[in-house]
Parts: sequence; structure tokens; C-alpha cells
Amino acid sequence: MFLKLLRNIDPETSHHISILSLKHLSRFLEKVYKNKILNTNFGNLTFDNPIGLAAGYDKNAEVINSLFKMGFGFVECGTVTPVAQYGNPKPRIFRLKEDRGIVNRLGFNNCGIEQFSRNFNQRNAHLGVAGVNIGPNKESKNFIDDYLKIYNSIYEYADYITLNVSSPNTKNLRDIQRTEDLSVLTYEINSLRESKETQKKIVLKVDPDSSEEDYSKIINIVQKNKIDGLIVNNTSISRPEFLKSDYKNEGGGLSGAPIKRKSNEVLRFISKETQGELMLIGVGGIERAQDIYEKIKIGASLVQIYSALTYNNLGFINEMNQELSICLKNDGFSNIKEAVGIEVK
Ligand SMILES: Cc1cc2nc3c(=O)[nH]c(=O)nc-3n(C[C@H](O)[C@H](O)[C@H](O)COP(=O)(O)O)c2cc1C
Repeated sequence: MFLKLLRNIDPETSHHISILSLKHLSRFLEKVYKNKILNTNFGNLTFDNPIGLAAGYDKNAEVINSLFKMGFGFVECGTVTPVAQYGNPKPRIFRLKEDRGIVNRLGFNNCGIEQFSRNFNQRNAHLGVAGVNIGPNKESKNFIDDYLKIYNSIYEYADYITLNVSSPNTKNLRDIQRTEDLSVLTYEINSLRESKETQKKIVLKVDPDSSEEDYSKIINIVQKNKIDGLIVNNTSISRPEFLKSDYKNEGGGLSGAPIKRKSNEVLRFISKETQGELMLIGVGGIERAQDIYEKIKIGASLVQIYSALTYNNLGFINEMNQELSICLKNDGFSNIKEAVGIEVK
């Protein structure tokens, strides 16, 4: 009833209410489904299960503990920028109900790195892996400096770090993927890491709208500069013909069911090109355990979800973990790692 109500009010208000509820309902969320068949790892990071929360839901790292209690195997907070910013004018999130999708043009609304750090450090680190997704401020004169600044300030406490170069809602951000800036950014980030005592994992989040040639270039650059993996992918600026909803032509990034096919095509291409040399995190249009299984089989070791949260109940991550375990068992796997990429080898 309560969730039904949330789905019918303004999406941004409903998001605030859901964050507030998770802050207070945390103690009622205890029964997390666990099964060894789902255990996996990324270097020395270990995951109870491969289902992560995608960036953008817990932008300010306010409800990490509750999200683990919902069943997520990892949580990616952010995107956080050096200084707090309001983002684009409202309204800026639109539910495409008939299409089970969302269009958003939030524009990195967040509390800034100082408050973010205070929030993030209140997490219970035993509950699971928590990553930080970083990006530049809209008004920044030098995007690369912004990444380096945040990277330095969160390095000690983030389990892994995501470089977000693919949000469509910060002007010129996506260009980084296709210019010399990507070499400079990844080179500088890796050099900074090499100067640290511990070597944390770094991943790059790409868009779903580039050409195969672009992805090949990105792969070359990240491998040269020792970036550990790719998140495939962010929201899309494309608008498939089949969209029915009135909001389909709102500007911003499309996510949810309508981008599943495209996301899987990009994932399959990158997976074939890299043959297990890069860690791939599959994101885009996951609604059921079968969708996760599909991404695993075409090369994702981990997955993330955002939009489907809007259309489901709180128990849905636990349910997907159970269903995924059954899929793997039925196909004769004893652990999820054995299924990664079997369709692209
Ligand atoms: C409302 C909203 C806000 C988002 N904010 C961010 C963000 O701040 N940083 C980011 O990297 N991705 C952001 N995303 C993209 C998601 O992390 C994810 O890549 C995308 O939605 C595809 O997954 P999905 O189909 O499961 O939603 C956002 C998505 C939505 C719907």
C-alpha cells in the first residue's frame, strides 16, 4: 500500500521518502538470503552476492547499512562532486510507467565531498563492499582536477572507486570518453594510486551510446593505465521507437527496461574484446533474476540495478538472489564465477 503510494507521487519526493524510510526501517530488514553459490570476488574484495545498487540512488551515502540489509551484495554511493551542488531545475525525474523506465536529468545533485565523507564513514564495513562514484562539479574549470581532488579525499575509506565519465546531464562530461582527456585522467588516477600504500580497485563507467570503435579505444586506454574494470553502462540519450510513455521526449538519460537490449549489446562487445582481462559490471534494464543471469553469461562478474527499485517492493533483491541461485544450480554450476562469460568464450 505504502509502496503503491510512493509510485504515484512525484518521483523526486518519493525518492526522498524512500531514503528517509530506509534510515528508520533499517532494524526491520534483517533476513538476507545467503547462498555460497553466489559468493564472488573482485581482487581481494569479497561479495556475498553479485547484485549491487547502481550509483545515483544513495548519492549522499545516507543509507548504506539498510541497503545491505535489503540483500545487496555491494552498494555504489554518489556520484559525489567536490562541492555541494543543486543540479538542474525541477522537475528532473520522469517515470515512464508504460515502458518500465525512467528519464532523469538530475545533474549530480549532491551534498559535496565533506558531508559525503562524514555519512560514508558511519557505515558498518562488515556488511558488504561499498564503492564511491566520483564526478566533477558542473561549473568546474578543470574536470580532471576535480576527479583527482575527490579521489584523494575518499581513497582511504572507499572499497573501490568509480570514475563517472558518462552521465549525460553534465555538459561536456561524456566527451572525456572520446578525447585525450581519458588518457590523462586514467594515467593520473593510476599514478596517484601507485603512490599509496594500499592498491584500491578503480573502474570506469561508460555510456551505452558510443560506437564499437570508441569502445575499443576506451578499452586500450584503460588497460594501458591499469584501470581494473568497466561499468557497462550509464543511462542512454537514445529514445527507442517502441517507447509509449508521454515523458519519452523529456531530455536526460533513459534507464530501466527500455535500455536492456542496448546495454547487453555493449556488454557483449566489450566482453568479447577483453576476454576476462577487465572486470565487467553489467548495468541497464535488470528487472528479474533471468536478466542478471543473462549479463553474467555474456561477461559481467557483477551487476547493478537502479530503475527496477522504483517498480518493485523491498523484498525484491532477496528474491532475485534466491532465483539466481536456482538458475545456476539448475545449469550445474557450483559457483557463479563458473558462469561468467560462458556465452562469449
Ligand atoms: C534517477 C537516477 C539517477 C542516477 N544518478 C546517477 C549518478 O549520479 N551517477 C551514475 O553514475 N549513474 C547514475 N544513474 C545511472 C544508474 O546508475 C544506472 O547506470 C542506469 O540507471 C542503468 O541501470 P538501470 O536500468 O537498472 O536503472 C542514475 C539513474 C537514475 C534512474
